[in-house]
Amino acid sequence: MPISKAVIPAAGLGTRFLPATKAMPKEMLPVVDKPAIQYVVEEAVNAGLHDVLMVTGRNKNALENHFDRATELEAVLTRKGDQRRLEEVVRSTNLATMHYVRQRDPLGLGHAVLRAHMHVGQEPFAVLLGDDLIDERDVLLERMIAVHDSHAANVVALMEVEPSQTHLYGIATVEATEESDVVRVTGLVEKPRPEDAPSNLAVIGRYVLQPEVFSVLEDTPAGSGGEIQLTDALNSMAGSGLGGGVAGVVFTGRRYDTGDRLDYLKAIVQVAATRDDLGPEMMAWLKDFVATA
Ligand code: G1P
Repeated sequence: MPISKAVIPAAGLGTRFLPATKAMPKEMLPVVDKPAIQYVVEEAVNAGLHDVLMVTGRNKNALENHFDRATELEAVLTRKGDQRRLEEVVRSTNLATMHYVRQRDPLGLGHAVLRAHMHVGQEPFAVLLGDDLIDERDVLLERMIAVHDSHAANVVALMEVEPSQTHLYGIATVEATEESDVVRVTGLVEKPRPEDAPSNLAVIGRYVLQPEVFSVLEDTPAGSGGEIQLTDALNSMAGSGLGGGVAGVVFTGRRYDTGDRLDYLKAIVQVAATRDDLGPEMMAWLKDFVATA
């Protein structure tokens, strides 16, 4: 069955960015001139997933507004003849078919994904986490969908991280396959200390999941941080082989983390550097600034 649905968990409180996130969802923080969440929806659409379900919570109305029509703004820009900005405003409106469900209780990523069950039904689907941005010049989600189709398995995206960083990620135990960028995942553990980590291959926030994951999540008890972890459900599927087990696509492209303040600042600089309109001038200024700071 071809995959058409993307699920984007966006219910987190964004406490690391307070006070900016007191009245605004962290997903709306701009990376250059686009809210972080729009990059993620664009990535899903570019991979052919036009049906997007956001799992939201309180204080997240701005997300719905961003992907809805803004008639007043459109009228003003039309009157002014500002075609370029009008196109930008209309772009996020027409990007995808958007759906929203509220998580209600903040019980973890696994719990958030479980809220998508009614919408997704018995189809495979993708999950994209908003803190991870993948450079649009690098292919990840399309590759994961292809691996899902050929292996008939759940697929996670893996990336090598510094061994000291394992406590921030789900970490995989893997076996090689004949395809150089694909591994068989035999186990997953959520946020192990470096001394307990089975490898330095971290799950970065992209998943292609079999619908069997929902029944597994129903039976998954709270784990790391007292939350229901998607990692724990996938570890169980890797062990039992349910849904075809778990494969990993090892990503070596460009990933930008917007999860904490320093990484967010780095992401802005990295994305701006790639832009034709801002990159050259910003880089020249940055070199000068670093040399004289
Ligand atoms: C989540 C997942 C973790 C994964 C990470 C990727 O953690 O639980 O397994 O490695 O996303 O960004 P979070 O960053 O939401 O704490």
